[in-house]
Amino acid sequence: MNLNTLRKFRTPALRTSGHVRPDRAVDGQVLLETVGLTKSYAGADGELPVLGGIDLTVRAGEVVALLGKSGSGKSTLLRCLAGLVPASSGTVSYRGRALNGANPGTAMVFQNFALLPWLTVQQNVELGLEAQGWNAPDRAEAARQAIDLIGLDGFESAYPKELSGGMRQRVGFARALVVEPDVLMMDEPFSALDVLTAENLRGELMELWESGQFPTRAIVLVTHNIEEAVLLADRIVVLGSRPYGTVQAVFEVDQDRPRDRTAPAFEELIDQVYRTMTGRPKETRTPGRSTAVDRPTPANTPLPTASVDGLSGLAELVAHAGGRCDLADLADDLGLEVDDVLPLVDALDLLGLAAVGGNDLVLTERGTAFARADVQTSKTIFAMAAIGVPLVQLITSSLRQNPTGTLRAGFFRDVLAHHFTSVQVERQLETATDWGRYAELYSYDAEPQEYRLDENGLLGRQDDEPQQG
Ligand SMILES: Nc1ncnc2c1ncn2[C@@H]1O[C@H](COP(=O)(O)OP(=O)(O)OP(=O)(O)O)[C@@H](O)[C@H]1O
Ligand SMILES: [Mg+2]
Repeated sequence: MNLNTLRKFRTPALRTSGHVRPDRAVDGQVLLETVGLTKSYAGADGELPVLGGIDLTVRAGEVVALLGKSGSGKSTLLRCLAGLVPASSGTVSYRGRALNGANPGTAMVFQNFALLPWLTVQQNVELGLEAQGWNAPDRAEAARQAIDLIGLDGFESAYPKELSGGMRQRVGFARALVVEPDVLMMDEPFSALDVLTAENLRGELMELWESGQFPTRAIVLVTHNIEEAVLLADRIVVLGSRPYGTVQAVFEVDQDRPRDRTAPAFEELIDQVYRTMTGRPKETRTPGRSTAVDRPTPANTPLPTASVDGLSGLAELVAHAGGRCDLADLADDLGLEVDDVLPLVDALDLLGLAAVGGNDLVLTERGTAFARADVQTSKTIFAMAAIGVPLVQLITSSLRQNPTGTLRAGFFRDVLAHHFTSVQVERQLETATDWGRYAELYSYDAEPQEYRLDENGLLGRQDDEPQQG
């Protein structure tokens, strides 16, 4: 983010439209408050209680993370705070006034961006202002500044479908920030993005927030990701889900920003939160300690979204270039963003077919053989590599342990749901299906949604899974 864009945003244009905005809140002032908030939804079998007696305060100057497992009611609580759904009992107030309808002091960023596909970036960002009755020239100017602030300048007339996920979410941020909400509400805003894009956006967001020129006085972030909560929040509110959402614990994060993931205090807090959420200690990630605890699992080694075709294509390109090439140059030559190529790079790395050294992607011996082999041999090489990938291994060994050699996809979905959002779970299963099929480890039948061990497959008759390497 360049500082000039920040400075520009400070110009008072947003306040010259004749619309009176509430005074800037001083740090510490209570902006949002719930007292004894409960929420139930009407279900087929009567009322489904989702939130049970939540007391929560959000003050100016703080970033609050709502952390909890899937179904613990995080999104529901966020919607109650935003006044988008009414409380069943208890109160929700904004600046001391009980809400009755949409909260005028909040704006929301959604996991799946929620952009209108038939509108341009500029028009999507102007939407919120239109609803507030701004006139066209003021609207256009304010939107341009928000677009600039969030690093989207040049994309004003693009349509969402022309943008990468990261850029789409920038539109989501611009659309929320343009109304200068007191509280920016975010529901898993980074979880539909690939790892590096998410990391980049998080960093930029926090840089803006820290710069003090953010047009917003507090942030409420919903996440199921402990590390993200510790990275971003001043306070982490853990929601427990038994039998329905209640505040299970609150952690203050008294660490300077930008936070250092390798700092002992950072890791210690992650462990503490993890223990609270699961009732057991987290496997330590400290470098240099026993590798047994760093064993890759489906939970700590998510599958990148990369098809076998895609990663084979990349391996072939690198093989043609002599087995090593500069990633940025390669992306440039292909007219792609580096981000577009990264899931493929991650996949090759995870499979042990390539490694990243400095700026270069370098094929391993196995990767070179894979790229040069005929189809049948490349399948065998791929199978040997894929069986070492945690999710593929989990599916294969679970199928082997079941006498029928079949298992419902729902089994794996439930296992993964403890660690990932439903969107991420589906993407990973899609990748695991593609990889396992190509490797002839298992097949997948979409109708009963069932995996079946490939008994005649390349590795199907072996008793022991081959080791990677
Ligand atoms: N509109 C609705 N009608 C009925 N039930 C709902 C509704 N919205 C949510 N629920 C239920 O309320 C519970 C909490 O849902 P909510 O989406 O708030 O959880 P969450 O913590 O955000 O979960 P996730 O991490 O999966 O997004 C779930 O059991 C869900 O099925
Ligand atoms: Mg949710």
